[in-house]
Amino acid sequence: MFKWGIERISGRAVKFRPAHATRVGIAGHNEQNPPWERRIMLIKKPADIRPSEITPPEWYARRREFLKGAAVLGAAALLPPVLRGNLAQAADDDLKPTPYKDVTSYNNFYEFGPSKTDPAENAGSLKTSPWSVMVEGHCEKPGQYALEDFLAPHPPEERIYRLRCVEAWSMVVPWLGIPLGQILPRFQPTASAKYVEFTTWLDPAQMPGQRTQLLDWPYVEGLRMDEAMHPLTLLATGLYGKELPNQNGAPLRLVTPWKYGFKSIKSIVKIRFTEQQPRTTWASEGPSEYGFYANVNPAVDHPRWSQKKERRVGDFFRRDTLPFNGYAEQVASLYAGMDLRKDF
Ligand code: MTE
Repeated sequence: MFKWGIERISGRAVKFRPAHATRVGIAGHNEQNPPWERRIMLIKKPADIRPSEITPPEWYARRREFLKGAAVLGAAALLPPVLRGNLAQAADDDLKPTPYKDVTSYNNFYEFGPSKTDPAENAGSLKTSPWSVMVEGHCEKPGQYALEDFLAPHPPEERIYRLRCVEAWSMVVPWLGIPLGQILPRFQPTASAKYVEFTTWLDPAQMPGQRTQLLDWPYVEGLRMDEAMHPLTLLATGLYGKELPNQNGAPLRLVTPWKYGFKSIKSIVKIRFTEQQPRTTWASEGPSEYGFYANVNPAVDHPRWSQKKERRVGDFFRRDTLPFNGYAEQVASLYAGMDLRKDF
């Protein structure tokens, strides 16, 4: 059990965990009670997938209508035609992209502080070029790859996905990225590669949050191999047709749209093929609150709040949380036979 102290990042009070503290719970995820307002107790702390598999079929039927609607989408005019067309399809309430400004100013990236506005305020100076990705573990082609080489053979695709944070807010983000399942086989994972572990860049000089004990740094996430290879899983390099802003995890971040947002690890520098399930950051910080699988599930509440509803950023009314965040048709079979209340 830890007790939490308060430190200041960018003039803002933030929680930190003193070295000899006693654990009382986990800080972090609670939108209603954001960290900077909390007192010390707080918190406890297919490769060729068709767009029709990602977006509801009714969109396609109503495409003409949406194309007309695109004219009123503020951002659309600035976008390349291909993206504009897709945004037009997305001009539906459920998958209407959250405005660029909100996507890039309401963030979780604790390396830059725990408040939603900290990443946009503090991440601008992060040096994201040159960047390389270390590939390790059970594979035939380990090595340190310059980002350009790591990504080179694969053209980025656009994917408009829902993003559901475990804190019960959500967004819709038009990502640019490469399906992870296209990239991983190049490193020839062996039969022992059962999981993939991802690690964020560790650099307290550039990431002020890492100078605190807010989390055990560096941030680590992981996927089972079949999840990593699933056609919905993306390594994002951009959003809204532009380069990924630093606060959103530049230059490379994971996107698993059927899982809570904390699985979407940002600013990745290492990918490791493992035989054992990786020890991931939030699941280690609060095993009773954050699971390894973290599949969006309205039937399994967080111990401190309900997951039945969510607030789409920009909306007034809450909406129902969808099983697997609306991607059940594509991913539910990955978990056949598992008890998702136990493996949450
Ligand atoms: N990755 C790192 N390295 N550090 C973080 O604090 N926060 C996670 C995830 N990836 C986080 C991270 C959480 S809790 C969420 S909800 C998403 O990033 C938020 O992504 P966004 O800021 O692009 O909306």
